[in-house]
Amino acid sequence: MIYDFDKTIERANTNCVKYDLRQAVFGNPEVLPLWVADMDFETPDFVRRAVIERANHPVYGYHFKDRPYYEAIKGWLQRRHQWTVETEWMTFVPGVVCGFNLAVMAFTREGDEVIIQSPVYPPFHHAVTSHGRKLVYNTLKVGEKGYEMDFDLLERQAATAKMLILCNPHNPVGRCWTRKELQKVSEICLRNNVLVLSDEIHCDLVLPGYKFLPYATLGEQAANHCIVFHAASKTFNLAGLATSTAIIPNKTLRDTYINYVHSMEAELGNIFGKVATQTAMEQGDDWLRQLLDYVQGNIDYVSSFLKEHLPKVRFFKPEATYMMWLDFNGFGLSEEALWQKMTQEAQLGLNRGKEFGSEGSGFFRINLACPRSTVEVAMERLRDHFGNI
Ligand SMILES: Cc1ncc(COP(=O)(O)O)c(C=O)c1O
Repeated sequence: MIYDFDKTIERANTNCVKYDLRQAVFGNPEVLPLWVADMDFETPDFVRRAVIERANHPVYGYHFKDRPYYEAIKGWLQRRHQWTVETEWMTFVPGVVCGFNLAVMAFTREGDEVIIQSPVYPPFHHAVTSHGRKLVYNTLKVGEKGYEMDFDLLERQAATAKMLILCNPHNPVGRCWTRKELQKVSEICLRNNVLVLSDEIHCDLVLPGYKFLPYATLGEQAANHCIVFHAASKTFNLAGLATSTAIIPNKTLRDTYINYVHSMEAELGNIFGKVATQTAMEQGDDWLRQLLDYVQGNIDYVSSFLKEHLPKVRFFKPEATYMMWLDFNGFGLSEEALWQKMTQEAQLGLNRGKEFGSEGSGFFRINLACPRSTVEVAMERLRDHFGNI
């Protein structure tokens, strides 16, 4: 079966965040939306068929996650990432963001220090500040080949912090952290008793040539000192189904976390998320292979286009995710002027870099999980409006 990622789909007027909130977010309802991290591709046909079949049953009452559901996730993690997970390590959470917020609340107290590695996905910041915890920025460094972690700084920060929220792979900079890097994180965190929350929602979106390493496979000690979050939602375009998994190898951590989740009555979830996730994890390998090839094609296209027509835009090619993190500071415009030019003149709806941390000022994140024709329009608009500066 060959899947058609070139097909364009009308998403406007479906209560869709990416399209239907354009006026609110960009002050312009006409921008070409390349922001929020879902895909403009069809959710795979085999997943839709399974959901429709369940929807045809006339009762949508309470449900539970059964053994085949967890077996499907286990099988996927084993097949794709060589990670052997036990069923009892897993617990449902309605979203990865909700899941790590619950972990912040369950394992830290008000005023405790929590480390994040900015620039990073905005909800990482909010998960700390919304609950009265103290944000500690282990800001990423820019090396010759791309973004790197600042281990000397992490070592100093870990002395007093209680928790690190790791983005593995990293959104927005697109790094697929290596074994050496993750090992260093785990050594520092173990030595300083810093609990690691590893957000692995992008782990299945690792691009050809790179290999994802689940944090918990670094060794027994690391596994005993982390809470991992996984979901099929980014990979198979299921974000609206709010179904994710927390994976916690250590029993003490797991019991504390599960008690906390249950105290919030957050463990039920929805029927369709269960069916879609299970089906994707059972049948999604071939679809995902084709998706990643297509996304890589979009990334290659944008990289060549920018090099040729907009050399002032600086970037590193991502190793994972379908996003690119673009530095527009070379144009010498203020952050506000860049934003106005992007949204009102070029009419492009990209994520505003400063929302990922102050070091993101003058950057934009572009979402390339869309048909090539959309990417081409976006690049032409960029060239037309930024090419002569
Ligand atoms: C790193 C990261 N974590 C979590 C999420 C969202 O997860 P969920 O929709 O399961 O809350 C995103 C979405 O962009 C993300 O990039």
